[in-house]
Amino acid sequence: MASVLETADLKGIAQYIKSGKCKNISLMLGAGISTAAGIPDFRSEETGTSPVRRTFVNVYSLTNESRPSGLYANLARLNLPYPEAVFEINFFQNNPTPFYTLAHELYPGKFRPTLTHAFIRLLSERSLLRMCFTQNIDTLERRAGVPANKIIEAHGSFATQRCIKCKTPFDDTKMKEMVSRFSEDKVVPKCEKKGCKGLVKPDIVFFGEALPSAFGQAPRIIKTDTDLLIVIGTSLTVHPFASLAYICPDNVPRVLINIELVGDFGSGDEDVILLGKCDEVIQELCEELGWEEELLKLWEET
Ligand code: APR
Repeated sequence: MASVLETADLKGIAQYIKSGKCKNISLMLGAGISTAAGIPDFRSEETGTSPVRRTFVNVYSLTNESRPSGLYANLARLNLPYPEAVFEINFFQNNPTPFYTLAHELYPGKFRPTLTHAFIRLLSERSLLRMCFTQNIDTLERRAGVPANKIIEAHGSFATQRCIKCKTPFDDTKMKEMVSRFSEDKVVPKCEKKGCKGLVKPDIVFFGEALPSAFGQAPRIIKTDTDLLIVIGTSLTVHPFASLAYICPDNVPRVLINIELVGDFGSGDEDVILLGKCDEVIQELCEELGWEEELLKLWEET
């Protein structure tokens, strides 16, 4: 089957997008798109010295020579049996303190969307965004102005919270206050329903929990309703989210925008691999598209 790309590179992607043949762009996003906002990713050795990372290095590093590094490398020092325990429901039930220590650092409101988040909004404004599948819980896609019906937060988000025992929703304002005060008073939000007192947890998908039902439509969208799949800032290590990258039809181009090569990129005839920092690659792509001014204007609005 003839390729839809004249050249398998950034120029070829820009030409395809401008050709009018590319109407439905789906995105798969990971923590790498928020590192420039100051939120560490999970597994990188070092993704810049963000203010948050400096906090982690200061608060959690046992020695001074520890290098800034991904979240998991830092959290391991927080008396966790292993880093991922911070997102495990059984560990949380017995000891919610590490999670709320992390939540205090990452809670929405402290961080500004990046150029990459502005690009998602730009695709939506140009009616080219089919769906933005994100693993991120920072709600920066919403903050960037991407319409809610164009976002599927596969791992949930900090946007809402509820009791893990009786599932009663917990007040947003009260949650925000308690999380922002947590570093001082270490008070964990508890259910206020009479006689319950269960632990309150943001609607983030912990390991072992089911993904939101909205994620169920993802395979169909990728398989039948996507003309271009762009994967940005993810190690593609966590399933079932990562599996979406492998079900893209052979004739649909896949683009990887990432610091490192991940997944099975390079094995597909229509793969385009653009290694580097996503904000820089996105800016170059928008230059090629003639959208750079629009991109910067949208970013300034965030
Ligand atoms: N530009 C491009 N790529 C970047 C940048 C950047 N500025 N910063 C980091 N990256 C890349 C890293 O090289 C890495 O490949 O982003 C990827 C981030 O990978 P992870 O830290 O594993 O984050 P992610 O893929 O989102 O993790 C998936 O793991 O623990 C779970 O639920 C958690 O949703 C998370 C999931």
